[in-house]
Amino acid sequence: MDRRQCIKAMAISGLSVSLLDKIKAQQSQPMILRSVPKTGELLPAIGLGSSANFSALARSEDFDSVRGVMNAFYSQGGLIFDTAPSYGASEEVSGRIANELGIQDDLFWATKLNVVPRGGSSANPADARQQVEESFARVNREMIDLIQVHNVSDIPTQLPILKEYKEEGRIRFVGNTTWSLDEYDDLENSIRNDELDFIGIDYAIDNRTSAETILPLAMDHGVAVLIYAPFGRTRLWRRVAGVDLPEWASEIGAETWAQFFLKFVISHPAVTAATPSTSRPANMVDNMGACFGDLPDTAMQRRMIEFVDSLPEA
Ligand SMILES: NC(=O)c1ccc[n+]([C@@H]2O[C@H](COP(=O)([O-])OP(=O)(O)OC[C@H]3O[C@@H](n4cnc5c(N)ncnc54)[C@H](OP(=O)(O)O)[C@@H]3O)[C@@H](O)[C@H]2O)c1
Repeated sequence: MDRRQCIKAMAISGLSVSLLDKIKAQQSQPMILRSVPKTGELLPAIGLGSSANFSALARSEDFDSVRGVMNAFYSQGGLIFDTAPSYGASEEVSGRIANELGIQDDLFWATKLNVVPRGGSSANPADARQQVEESFARVNREMIDLIQVHNVSDIPTQLPILKEYKEEGRIRFVGNTTWSLDEYDDLENSIRNDELDFIGIDYAIDNRTSAETILPLAMDHGVAVLIYAPFGRTRLWRRVAGVDLPEWASEIGAETWAQFFLKFVISHPAVTAATPSTSRPANMVDNMGACFGDLPDTAMQRRMIEFVDSLPEA
């Protein structure tokens, strides 16, 4: 946390003393940063996602809890915030709270574009431009760091619109996302042909298909990678319910299952950052803990996979 963040964090802190102590202890170690291949800028390897429980929280109008999560994230030096117009109230509520906290210009805002109607295959360009403008209004910034085509939908229409915004200097980076195996081919084609800056893709210790093709391809093409669903939403939590974290997890500084799963994911050399979502400040502090200290080497990664693979699927 730099001085400016520290002052803001203290000023806006609604975090309990025990969480603040935990944050301080974590920050005694170096933060894990990754560079964006196209620019070389450094970003923390753990971000914050905003679908799943986070969007339920935003929808429930429990603004204190949303503020608590965003505060816990920012107080620890977190920067990448991943959202989408389709995540219910997430984009609007997080934009408003970031503005209230005065941190909106510090965050690396990543949102998405998709106006293809459900069951349809094509996007109306005017609707696409309107959705992008709505994102700017919600975030209340002149520039958004990253907008990606959501779920590789109508790339030929939507990606060029994002590239126009990029040329105008209103978006810094463009990309495509998916978390469905049946869309991997489209994402691969786009990485090869569309000069993307970023992609967003699912990857987790029990869901490693993207490491076979997409992640190496992204690395070859100098494309930054955000990892989505690093816990498989509830899948990994069900799998380790009642299972003790192995003692050897301490060798990479993983004190919890969340840190074990996240350190595995961000140890892949193609990964720029993982963006787990949470609705709880304590879990946010836990997740950011994976952004400090050591990462597993190849032998340790193998050991981690073997351990999780040996557990029955939930
Ligand atoms: N196609 C796409 O573009 C796409 C697809 C999927 C995801 N995404 C992005 O990636 C983000 C992450 O994926 P996701 O939200 O689907 O799933 P996820 O991050 O894998 O899992 C979220 C779940 O993990 C729990 N959790 C978080 N931290 C925890 C901790 N420390 N200890 C215990 N439980 C914890 C959360 O519950 P609590 O709230 O109780 O913490 C929530 O149920 C999304 O929010 C979204 O921004 C994008």
